[in-house]
Amino acid sequence: MFRLLPRQRRLFESVLAKLGDQEAAWVDAVHISAAAAAIEAAGHRNFGEPGRRVSEISGTGISGDVQRGLIARWMLDLPVRVAREQLPQTVLDLYPFWIDQLANWLSTQHGAYDSDYWAKDVRFALALSVPGNRTQTIDLISHCSPGQIVRDAVLRANLSTLARYVMCGGWHRKWLQTHTESRHLDDFHEAGWNRLWVTAADICNSRQHLAGMLGSSWFFDPPLETISPRLAYLRRNPVAGGAFLADQGSGPTHTERAAAKSSTRRALIVSGEYVPHSWLLAWPRKALLVWAEQNRDIIGLQSGDVVAKAA
Ligand SMILES: CC(C)(COP(=O)(O)OP(=O)(O)OC[C@H]1O[C@@H](n2cnc3c(N)ncnc32)[C@H](O)[C@@H]1OP(=O)(O)O)[C@@H](O)C(=O)NCCC(=O)NCCS
Repeated sequence: MFRLLPRQRRLFESVLAKLGDQEAAWVDAVHISAAAAAIEAAGHRNFGEPGRRVSEISGTGISGDVQRGLIARWMLDLPVRVAREQLPQTVLDLYPFWIDQLANWLSTQHGAYDSDYWAKDVRFALALSVPGNRTQTIDLISHCSPGQIVRDAVLRANLSTLARYVMCGGWHRKWLQTHTESRHLDDFHEAGWNRLWVTAADICNSRQHLAGMLGSSWFFDPPLETISPRLAYLRRNPVAGGAFLADQGSGPTHTERAAAKSSTRRALIVSGEYVPHSWLLAWPRKALLVWAEQNRDIIGLQSGDVVAKAA
């Protein structure tokens, strides 16, 4: 079992030390029941549900300081939670980086807690989502509902995605799912994403019940091949390795995100020449494992041995 470094522990304790007596007593009193409520909600289809359940517990609303205190309190117990999950070494190797990032971030924040960061940090501190590279997390429990696959088959008049979904038992098995952490984009590049896929394969290898790995984003949109060719690897590499895609349609969030960082995409969106779509990318476990074994050496990772179960 890994341990928090002394400086990481000090930073989490400093976040707790900022709380008033009443707030500190509240965090102390509820951190176990709040963790249980969040963990129970982890099977919900909504990624933000664990965080929402925790916010609900306070009844009258929870301040940013108390939210940070709760995350810091959970982070002190993270090594025990991680040990219980028996994660592969490729995941464990990433923890020191992620813990440093969260410790530094928490200890320098004031005011309200951004809702997306809250959803992510609750999951991370409770080991519901684990590191996949230095930018992506991986939810250990996710779902791929049949509705969106059937809708894709109808809209695109194409049965191949539906067939692939049925073949891998995608409707009744649990999936992994990745999310992007915008606070540290260190690994948002092709080598970083290759590392993510290998990490996901290692988790699949140690959890036979999983159907594979999911991602969902505007950045898997096929027109990016010509509009933003530097992002084409995101879709091209998994598809070449056996992943399939389902169109999730357009929407204001996808448009806003696609336009956020690129003046090229923004101009095409404003002129109406490009309407970003979000795509679900599903990489069935069998194909993912084959790809990972063929590519592991290229990205310089050791085989993902499963860590012995903690006593
Ligand atoms: C997803 C994201 C991290 C990808 O960033 P990225 O790898 O830098 O790629 P982008 O295509 O977005 O790059 C944006 C701009 O950065 C510059 N840029 C990126 N990579 C570059 C490179 N290798 N060389 C030169 N310029 C580069 C370009 O100016 C580009 O603008 P352009 O398209 O007009 O040329 C970024 O778009 C983002 O943060 N988006 C908003 C949040 C988001 O969508 N998160 C994911 C939620 S699912």
